[in-house]
Amino acid sequence: AHQWRGVIREYAERLPVTEATKVITLGEGGTPLVHAQKLSELTGSSVYLKVEGMNPTGSFKDRGMTMAMTAAVAAGAKAVVCASTGNTSASAAAYATAAGLQCAVLVPEGKISMGKLSQAIAHGATLLQVDGNFDDCLDIARKLGESYPVFLVNSVNPARIEGQKTGAFEIVDSLGDAPDYHVLPVGNAGNISAYWKGYKEYAAPFESATAGTLPAVATKTPIMWGFQAAGAAPFVAGHPITDPDTIATAIRIGNPASWETAVGARDESGGVIEAVTDEEILSAHRWLSAREGVFVEPGSAAGVAGLIKKHAAGEVPAGKTIVITVTGHGLKDPQWALRTEDGSDVQPVKVSNDVVTVAAELGLEAK
Ligand code: F0G
Repeated sequence: AHQWRGVIREYAERLPVTEATKVITLGEGGTPLVHAQKLSELTGSSVYLKVEGMNPTGSFKDRGMTMAMTAAVAAGAKAVVCASTGNTSASAAAYATAAGLQCAVLVPEGKISMGKLSQAIAHGATLLQVDGNFDDCLDIARKLGESYPVFLVNSVNPARIEGQKTGAFEIVDSLGDAPDYHVLPVGNAGNISAYWKGYKEYAAPFESATAGTLPAVATKTPIMWGFQAAGAAPFVAGHPITDPDTIATAIRIGNPASWETAVGARDESGGVIEAVTDEEILSAHRWLSAREGVFVEPGSAAGVAGLIKKHAAGEVPAGKTIVITVTGHGLKDPQWALRTEDGSDVQPVKVSNDVVTVAAELGLEAK
């Protein structure tokens, strides 16, 4: 049986690597494209979820990190640095370990989930909680990369975008063509830029550095729909915002680094970048786990929240193919599953150690 070899080896001809490149991989990519039955019923379109929580560290960041860490090793780096709302730090810490490099991560104090914090610590990164938000952390990380002997692995590093574009390749490879719409959350805006790059490259002949001219794989590119949290929606405002806030800490970002490329993806594709409220995000988070069987972290549900919102506004056409990237695993930030719609805590029912009591509690009658 074919064993998935990680995104660099699977898509080497379309990435800036050669036979000689020392590849740093944890087997990322090859994630499931799940048919979302209830969202498909709701919209009358075929809706699929690209479940990126199935990557080695539980988020899409691993696709970019395999490339960034491979580039760091090729550059002779000894240490890497990143700013993060959590997932990038978890991924950087794991891939730095695989590469034998030191890793420092800067995170906004008090605004990163326990799961992500514990991953960075477990993989031995030096984790500093900065008295500031993600945008402040990224500012410092960039300055460290410029003026100190550390290699920056945020998505301002083009290697990250190269790796992340493979998400689009996998979707086209499984559907046989590009979808009509691609929907995803937008934070620092690397991923929407990366998907758009991947879709464009697959829809035209590609000049490979190692394999000559590769023919187009897709006949079209999708319309890109990005969604931000309403309290952290600089693309909706049309300018950076200074005090972003949302319960979806993954996308709590006010000054996205990949501004121009994200606007390019939106405008060239004829798409939109819109906002969804925290309530809409949590409701979509609940929809995914309770109706589709897919557990994601709140920030990852922003795309689904956006689709549901646009459907309610009559803006989702029927009969189309729609892919939504759900970016990170639910276990990253599980606290949100343990609270009810009215905000109270879910209390598991306690029962005595006895089958009759358990059956009665379950409403079962003996056969
Ligand atoms: N979803 C999740 C779960 C994320 O962690 C992020 C970004 C995004 C969506 C947004 O993707 O930034 O490419 O637009 N997380 C970064 C981090 C910022 O540090 O982990 P984007």
